[in-house]
Amino acid sequence: MKIAIGCDHAGLELKSALMSYLDSRLIPYEDFGTYTAESCDYPRIAEKVCKAILSGQFDRGILICGTGIGMSITANKFPGIRAAACSEPYSAILAKRHNNANVLCLGARVVASGLAALIAEGWLNASYEGDRHQRRLDMITRIEQRNAVPPAITAPGEEAGSQVKVQPPDAESEAGAALPYEGTQPL
Ligand code: RB5
Repeated sequence: MKIAIGCDHAGLELKSALMSYLDSRLIPYEDFGTYTAESCDYPRIAEKVCKAILSGQFDRGILICGTGIGMSITANKFPGIRAAACSEPYSAILAKRHNNANVLCLGARVVASGLAALIAEGWLNASYEGDRHQRRLDMITRIEQRNAVPPAITAPGEEAGSQVKVQPPDAESEAGAALPYEGTQPL
């Protein structure tokens, strides 16, 4: 498993502690910045890490900012990224088992380094359980697709609309059709 890791200025120290943890477990990673304590914008780092994962070169990502919230909001804008901001191990483990979260977001102003390592460990050791959860992840994917618009602004070298692959409409997207999860009991 190869990890893409990144932080903003608020997460710099915690990122360093987590990289030491990854080193101690012999888990390979690449650091996508930021590299100094100078104030920076977390969306830039989240974008780098998410693109690295979506490129297939990395299996999972860890993003750290002050609260983990800005990183998770940004990361979840990328179709195919499922980012979870966690401040205790239970949620982190379930984020992988049930939600197949491929990005873990941590708040350096929320959790100390020892707890953060336990959260990361729980998430890294957990496995996605599939089954009924896959049905729900498929729903999320279709929601992403139904709400996708071709990007109006593209980065240099990017083709407009290249990240949007809209699948043909299915029963869920028919106007007026009941959503398949309406009226069902959550397990
Ligand atoms: C930076 O001060 C802070 O806003 C950022 O690290 C993060 O917490 C945002 O969600």
